[in-house]
This record gives sequence, structure tokens and C-alpha cells, in this order.
Amino acid sequence: MEVYYFSGSPDGVYKDQILGINGKFPGPTIEADVGDTIEVTLINKIQDRQNTTLHWHGMHQRGSLFEDGTSQIAQCPLPYGSFQIYKFNVTESGTYWYHSHVHSQYTEGLVGALIVHGQPEHYHHDGELTLTLSDWYHRTAHENERWYLSPESRGISPFPDSGLINGFGRYPCTFAQLQNRSCNIENQNRPVFNIQRNATYRVRLINAGAVSSFNFSIDGHLLETIEVDGIAAAKPAVVNVVSIAPGQRYSFLVFRSSNNIDNDEGRYLVRATLRKESLSLIEGQNINEYPEALIGDVTAVLNYVDEDLSQFHNLVTETTEMFSYREIVPPPAYHQLQANGQVVYLNEMDLSPLDGIPAPDYFDTEFSIHIAFVSDENGVQRASFNGTPFSLPHEKPLLISLLEEEPLPIHSFPLEISFGSVVQLVVNNPFGPHPLHLHGHHFWVVGAGEMHAGDYDPSIHQLRVDGVKRDTVVVQQRSWVVIRFVADNPGIWTFHCHMDWHNLGGMVLTFAEAADVLRKEVQVTEEAMRICSLHG
Ligand code: C2O
Ligand code: CU
Repeated sequence: MEVYYFSGSPDGVYKDQILGINGKFPGPTIEADVGDTIEVTLINKIQDRQNTTLHWHGMHQRGSLFEDGTSQIAQCPLPYGSFQIYKFNVTESGTYWYHSHVHSQYTEGLVGALIVHGQPEHYHHDGELTLTLSDWYHRTAHENERWYLSPESRGISPFPDSGLINGFGRYPCTFAQLQNRSCNIENQNRPVFNIQRNATYRVRLINAGAVSSFNFSIDGHLLETIEVDGIAAAKPAVVNVVSIAPGQRYSFLVFRSSNNIDNDEGRYLVRATLRKESLSLIEGQNINEYPEALIGDVTAVLNYVDEDLSQFHNLVTETTEMFSYREIVPPPAYHQLQANGQVVYLNEMDLSPLDGIPAPDYFDTEFSIHIAFVSDENGVQRASFNGTPFSLPHEKPLLISLLEEEPLPIHSFPLEISFGSVVQLVVNNPFGPHPLHLHGHHFWVVGAGEMHAGDYDPSIHQLRVDGVKRDTVVVQQRSWVVIRFVADNPGIWTFHCHMDWHNLGGMVLTFAEAADVLRKEVQVTEEAMRICSLHG
């Protein structure tokens, strides 16, 4: 996969720097079966000579620590003009994605879907569709980074210009012209998913966005959630709307609702509505500068076709074609209601893992984390856990330093956890929502609540062990969340906010999991050494 800038107009507005793969954004979907080995050759041809990496979001990298793609943690970043071979086994089915783990490169396009098919799948379906949501900036990632990491931003994330489904969206051209950006409605497309009547589809939904959460729905349809971040879900909940934050994934079986009155053309809008509170740190920015259209619905079309069923299998994987916006008359109805006339939103706490294995009802080690924004020595507001913004080591990746028993840099010092222990993380958040992602693990969400009377307090708040298991959880605004995982995967693992600007600013920590086991059993791979040696 070659990474380089190309130009394009994902939402109709011309941008001459889209960081894609093989000239495409999103990058190619990687599909594999459980038990396969994935091998990807990454070739860095980024014209302005930036380093890059790829992280395989949700993959545990058991025994393949150097493939995790975290720059300066699991590997030296790949320099311009070089290649790196990533190679790892996939052991779990589900919906994953990959993205750069260098600066804010993924906000500029370096993302793709990674699908692992199970044998057999847990729920019957005839076909599937993959929808990758993203928010999109007209400014370059460099411009956004420079602004964000200056006192001027006051720690506020750059505000996205529009939202995209599978790399397509719509920005009002009249508004773009006022900003002297070239915009062409001829370039505004939306994906059309052609599907068969009387067939059951699995929709895989990925939020590959930089900061935005979306409410996802399909007009006239109900969504039965069967997967959360790669984990098959039991007791599927049937809902109208699912909220999804950056880094998260869901799969649904899609059913037409019983009170669905078919429109003439058999076309329904698929909607991803930007959740404004996910951009809650925008005080000071003039929201009136942004027309409502920008923070409204991002749409695609579900199109029932009644072709000969013998062609059905061709439709299963390549279902996307493009319709121009102007050709589509949106159907009148908003998402169809439940039979009782209500709109039901997915509550993730209603979902438990299909394997029925609950969280351990105890923990050995607990870390208490407060989300905090602090001013650094340059007057820049930095996102952090516990008031210490993380900074990446400059010299060697943490993993290599650890194996070589070198002293670890202080602002990236890992928290030690011992092999087999049950780890509990308590996160208290007095600010807006943050999607928190843990590398190397799925975790159980054992509790969540609002901070009415202050922090999480075990003497007041109840936890539960039979809740949802996932790899990215939102700690809601002015709320706390408690998660648990078993430290059975020796490695250096990152835990960070998946709002990419917060990750850049320092809302990151690392775990050194079973460091003793690592030092005894793990050696730096030849490929990892080779990449580091490219830096001279
Ligand atoms: Cu999806 Cu550390 O990332
Ligand atoms: Cu955050």
C-alpha cells in the first residue's frame, strides 16, 4: 500500500492534500478470515517527507507487539522513501479498521476498514455493507495541528467542515465560495448501496472520524445490533438510532420496519447526523459561521433492486455506486418509528458479549484517571490524563527501550501491570465526551454514571459485570466510566482519547503489561530494527 498525497473533492470542495492509500480515500478494505495471516507492505511516498505508520485498531497483536503501529511506542516511524512489512495473525472475527498513528495524519485520510470474517458467523445474513464515517477538514492537517498546538486554540479541537460516508459528502458550494475555496456540485456524490428485497443484510459501521460522534439511522428500517467493536453481542437490541464515536464500530442486521410504507422507488436515506455535543469544546468559536447544513445529516442511499437473485452474490461485496446529489429526491419520512411510535436509541449497556463471559467481579490493580486540560510552558492548553500531558519519546520506541532495560523517558513512562492481573480503570471526566481506546485488549464496561455529586465513589455507585465488552468507550460529559480488563497480553499498550486532537495534545498513557515476561520472552524483530536503522 503506497501512501501519498493526492487531490480530490470528497465533499465537493477541492483539497490538494488528501493523504490516501494508492490514491484512494478511504484506503482499501482489508478482508480476512479468522486464522489468516495479514501481510501488508506499507510504502511511504508522502511528498513532504513525513514519517508514517499503520495501526490496526482493535487487533490485539498477541505475540506480534512490533506490528501495533504506534509511532515511538511499538516502532520507529517509517521514514519517507522506505517500506515496512506488517505481518500478524488475526484471531478474532469482527469489524476493525486501520489508520496512521503519527500526528494527526488519519484526519487527512489515512484510514481504511479491516474486516475479519468468522467461520461460521454468529447471525445469518445474506450480504453485507461496510460504511465508514468520517468528519472532514478543508484545512490541511498541518494547518490544524499548528493552530491546535498554539495558545490561540485554547485547547479547542479544530472544527470539522463536513461529514463523509465512505469518503463522500456535501458541503454547500455557495458557502465555500465565500471562503475562496473551489467547490463543484458535479463532484458531490453519495454512495448508493444496492440491495435485494427478501435478503438480510449486515451493515458494518465504523467511525473513522477525528472528533465527531454521529447518530446513525436508516429511514424506514430498524437496526438489530449484533456486534460491538469486534465482539459478537448477545440479546440483540432492536433500535432506530445508534450513536457512534470515533474509534467505535457496530454491526447491525437491517430490517424494514413493519409500519414502513414503501416509497415508489424503493430508496431510503441512510443518515449519519453529527452530534453537536461531541464538539462541545467549541466555546469561543463562532458557531454561526457554520451553516446548519454542515452539522446536519450526512447521507447515503439504500436502494432496493429487484434483479434476478442469481446475481445476488455479486452484490454482496461491491455494492457501492455513485449517484449525484441532484438526481436524488430525498424521501419524505425521517427514520421510521417503532410500533409504539417511539424512536429508540441504542443503549450500549443493554449489550453483553455473546460468549456470556462476564467481567471478573474483583480487581487487583486500580488506576484512577481524571481528564484535565492544562496549560504547558508555552501557554498551550494540553489535553491530558491527570494533568500530565503525554509526550512521545524522542530517541527509541518505548517497547525497545523497555526490552533493552534502558531508563524510560519521564513523560511517557508506562504504568506497570503484572501478568494475569485484573486491572480496573476509573475515568472521571468533568468536561465534554471523550472516546477512550485501549490497545491490545477488549475491556468490559462495568459502570458509567454522571458526576452529580462528584467522582465515581465505590461506596455509592453500583458496578455490574455482565455489561458490554469493547475496545473504545465514551466517557460522557461530566460523567465517569469504570472498565476492567485481564492483563493476559504482555506488551506496551496505549490508552488514549480517540478524538485525534486530544491524542496529539497528550491525553494518552501507556501500560507496560508483564514487563518481566516481555524481557524474558520477546526479542526486537529484525524488521523493527531495520526500520529504526533507517533513521541513521
Ligand atoms: Cu485507533 Cu491508538 O488508535
Ligand atoms: Cu478527548
